[in-house]
Formats: sequence, structure tokens, C-alpha cells
Amino acid sequence: MNLPVKSLDELKHAAEQLINFGGSEKIFLFYGNMGAGKTTLIKSLCGCLGTKETVTSPTFSIVNEYQGGSSKIYHFDFYRLKNQSEALDLGYEEYFYSGNYCFIEWPEKIPDLWPDHYIRVDVQVVSDKERLLTFAKI
Ligand SMILES: Nc1ncnc2c1ncn2[C@@H]1O[C@H](COP(=O)(O)OP(=O)(O)OP(=O)(O)O)[C@@H](O)[C@H]1O
Ligand SMILES: [Mg+2]
Repeated sequence: MNLPVKSLDELKHAAEQLINFGGSEKIFLFYGNMGAGKTTLIKSLCGCLGTKETVTSPTFSIVNEYQGGSSKIYHFDFYRLKNQSEALDLGYEEYFYSGNYCFIEWPEKIPDLWPDHYIRVDVQVVSDKERLLTFAKI
């Protein structure tokens, strides 16, 4: 499914569509270049799910935890991961298989650890304010 987003104002609507598209699937992998808008979209998703906390990129901690309205949300950024065993060390499985929402930036860094089923989200830059989101059930 392709969803054009014309501006930051449209992100909230896009986030709602993405949550609906996911249905019962709670694990989302986000692909896109640096600065494409993965974190910005995840902020919007967390807002939709009822998070009141500030959502920032967990670049240094790898994973951030937020409280959504009815479940926890785990937000990963694997960009700085040196190798996949670091993900094992932080106990990624407990997060991935917890049944809580998991939003994962830079999943390319953990190719052997992807779950069997997830929602793939591609974020492409169209112009300064415009993005093209692509959702797929894997
Ligand atoms: N429609 C839009 N959707 C998302 N971001 C947008 C949009 N329009 C403009 N932006 C801007 O693009 C930037 C995206 O930065 P963001 O940190 O979300 O990227 P990222 O993909 O998470 O990068 P990184 O790979 O470094 O983590 C922000 O400054 C945001 O305000
Ligand atoms: Mg980011």
C-alpha cells in the first residue's frame, strides 16, 4: 500500500492508517535513508497510541520504552550497532516477542534477527516536506 504524505501535518493521519494496516501485527521495521523521516513517523505513531512522553531517537541507548494507552511501546534504533550479538546482549527477543509494539529503525543491521512476520514500512523523500510511505505485510 502506498501512502503519499504531503506535509508534517498529514503524518498523524498516516500514522493512524499504518496502525490500522498493521491490525494485530505489533512489529514494524522502518526502512529509509538517514533523515528520511523514520523517527518523525514513529513519534506520530506513539502519539496515536497514546504516549504522553517525549519520543526521541534512541541512538545511544538502542532502545527506548514508552507507555502507550494500553500497552508498552519499544522504539529501537540499530544504526550504531557494531554487530548482531550486541542485539542479543540487550535481550532483543524479550522485546520482540513481548506482544508490545516494536518500532525498529535500521533493521538492516540485524538481518538474522528479523521475526517471521512484521510490517515493513519504507519512507522515501519526495521533496522537502513530502514523503512517500509504503506499507507491506511480510
Ligand atoms: N512529511 C514528512 N514526514 C516526515 N518527516 C518530515 C516530513 N517533512 C519534513 N520532515 C522532516 O524530515 C526530518 C526527518 O528526520 P528523522 O530524524 O525523522 O529521520 P530518520 O529517518 O529517523 O533519520 P535517521 O536515519 O538519522 O534516524 C525531520 O527534520 C522532519 O521534520
Ligand atoms: Mg531516526
